[in-house]
Amino acid sequence: MPLAVIGGTGLTQLADLVIDHREMVHTPYGQASGPVVRGHLAGVPLMFMARHGHGHTIPPHRINYRANLWALQKAGATQVAAIAAVGGIDANLNPGDLVIPEQIIDYTSGREATFFEGDPVRHIDFTQPYDALLRGQLIQAARPLTTPVHTDGCYGATQGPRLESAAEIQRMARDGCTIVGMTGMPEAVLARELDLPYATCALVVNRAAGLNEGKPITMADIEQTLATGMIAVRQLLQALVRG
Ligand code: HPA
Repeated sequence: MPLAVIGGTGLTQLADLVIDHREMVHTPYGQASGPVVRGHLAGVPLMFMARHGHGHTIPPHRINYRANLWALQKAGATQVAAIAAVGGIDANLNPGDLVIPEQIIDYTSGREATFFEGDPVRHIDFTQPYDALLRGQLIQAARPLTTPVHTDGCYGATQGPRLESAAEIQRMARDGCTIVGMTGMPEAVLARELDLPYATCALVVNRAAGLNEGKPITMADIEQTLATGMIAVRQLLQALVRG
C-alpha cells in the first residue's frame, strides 16, 4: 500500500529517501506545504511531505492541512504516517521517547478543519482517531529500537505557535492528555474524512510547560533532543516500510 510520511519539526527531509521526483500537486484548497516527494526508502516506494515546508517556514496555525492531505491522496497515497515533535505531559515520558498515541483532543481554533462543508451534511465517526492497523505496524516497527516507545497515550493539539501556560498543561493532564503538540489536528480528522488510514509517531522533545523543574522550555534543548531523536524515527520508518 503506497505510504506517505508527513515529516514535522526536525524531519523536513528524509535523508535516506532515494528521491525519484518532486511533484507540486494543485489542489482545490490552495497550496500544500510543498511538493509531494516521491522516492524509495530501503527499496520500497514512499511519498514524503514536509509539513512546515522545506525550510521549516510555515507555523502550525498556517499550515494548509486540507491541501496537504488532499495532495497526498491525489498523488496516490493510501495511508499516512505522521511524524510529530511533542511536549511530554505524562510523568513517565522523557525527552527522546517515542509515543504512538491512540487518542486525541483538539484544543485548536480557527483552522480549516473539514472537507465537508455541507450539502450533504456529513458527520464522520472519529471514535478511534488513529488507524488501528497502521498503529500496530508502527508499534511493531519500533520494537527493535533501543529508544523507549509508549504504545498508548492521548495527543492534545494546541493552537500555538506559542507554547502553553503551566495551568493549560495541568488542565490538559486532567483531561487525560499525555503529550502536547500543535499539528495533530485537523490533520488526523482530515485524513479520516478522505478515508486515508492515518497514525502518528511522536517524538517527545521537551517536558511540557511547568513540568521542567521550574526551568523554561528552550529551543536549544528541543533542537538537541530532535537531532538524536529523529535518528530513531528514521530507523522506525525503515523498519515500517520493510514490513
Ligand atoms: N507544546 C506544544 N507543542 C510542542 C511542544 C510543547 O511543549 N513541544 C514540541 N511541540
